[in-house]
Amino acid sequence: MNENNKQKILIIGSGGREHAIGWKIKQSPLCGGLYFAPGNAGTAKLGVNVPIKATDIKDLFDFVKKEKIDLTLAIPDDPLALGIVDQFQKEGLRIFGPTKAAAQLESSKAFSKNFMQSHNLPTAKFKIFDDYEKAKGYLNTQNLPIVIKVSGLALGKGVIIAETKEEAEKALEDILVKKTFGEAGREVVIEEFLTGPEISIHVFSDGKNYSIFPTSQDHKRIGEGNTGPNTGGMGTIAPLSRQVGGQAFVTDELLNNIEKNIVAKTLSGMKDDGNTFSGILYPGLMLTPDGPKILEYNARFGDPETETYMRLLETDLLEIINACIDQKLSEIKIKWNSNFACTIMLASEGYPGVYEKGKIIMGIEEAEKDKNVIVFHAGTKMEDNNLITNGGRVLGVSAIGASLEEALDTAYRAVLKISFEGMQYRKDIGRGSFFNPN
Ligand code: AMP
Ligand code: GLY
Repeated sequence: MNENNKQKILIIGSGGREHAIGWKIKQSPLCGGLYFAPGNAGTAKLGVNVPIKATDIKDLFDFVKKEKIDLTLAIPDDPLALGIVDQFQKEGLRIFGPTKAAAQLESSKAFSKNFMQSHNLPTAKFKIFDDYEKAKGYLNTQNLPIVIKVSGLALGKGVIIAETKEEAEKALEDILVKKTFGEAGREVVIEEFLTGPEISIHVFSDGKNYSIFPTSQDHKRIGEGNTGPNTGGMGTIAPLSRQVGGQAFVTDELLNNIEKNIVAKTLSGMKDDGNTFSGILYPGLMLTPDGPKILEYNARFGDPETETYMRLLETDLLEIINACIDQKLSEIKIKWNSNFACTIMLASEGYPGVYEKGKIIMGIEEAEKDKNVIVFHAGTKMEDNNLITNGGRVLGVSAIGASLEEALDTAYRAVLKISFEGMQYRKDIGRGSFFNPN
């Protein structure tokens, strides 16, 4: 920290989420310099992009030492799973995020399912296997459809919902025999198929106290009506717990149930097991006819949830993060503004499958002329003075409004101003049956 009590900050990652976090942190009076590793064309306008990959922990460590970075924010799942927090802490460096042991909630589905079972947390019935024949035998005793999950991190591609026995057997063979997911597929979780709308919960945790964000909803599949393959997330809305001129999707009663029976119980369970969780806990829930159940845990901010959340967060994010690290979360009051917010992701043609990069992007300035719109960059870079596509998810167009409808209308109007060859996006974010549980 320099003489003005300002901090030099390194944000690890390169998505729309990292751009949104950087945008928020840049507004903090405590921010005395901002670096991104590796960042994108949007983050380059907020600070300095450093060409180090999120998983090159040694190079990140050397950079932090050399540049005298005061605080590192480990945002994506991979560096957390590799233990970046433990390694930085051991050397006395200040870093935000869960330890390797706590991050197993996300990095190992076998760990998280066993954890949920031993602490009586609501989740789909399951069994874990590392042997193909045994897994196949279990399959024969189960109903269809059935869900098969690779235990390790698999870029959102490790969940197979099998409608037939043949499909399920093929998935097991691919994972356990052909090893198509490598070490991430050493174990599989076979679990009961659940139904209901999905919601995202985010929680700041300092290991002693926690604070829940407003609820949000992602739209994970590529196609309208929530069809087609899973993606990293195509669009988000928040909050779900307040509605203008209608009934709230998430009622106070449901929220209290989630807080008591999922959030508080998860954090106290982790502590009891000696894996105290500090950072962002993000359980993905399904609101089933039998109540909310945990589909998975993430040990980090969601993307594109974060692009939406940063538009609603009023309190200084840097202050909250420092309080999490210092176990002083109880000393600050976290405020969210009274708007609704949404983010529409614009993706490359072919995503989440094979796609081309290098398409010229036009119209962001025009889109941002509306003061309620901010376009966050995901897969973008500058080349020869042109802004070009550099990933599957390219931009997150976020907007705020006094109602969800207003936020969505504003965001979709802005989307129409932006173009690049092959641009695709969902036109039903926050609209239609997916949002409405009835
Ligand atoms: P996960 O990575 O575990 O969140 O799974 C990715 C997506 O697969 C979820 O967002 C759900 O849409 C779907 N999914 C996962 N588990 C189940 C389940 N037990 N029943 C139905 N759908 C599921
Ligand atoms: N929004 C999905 C994810 O961040 O995993």
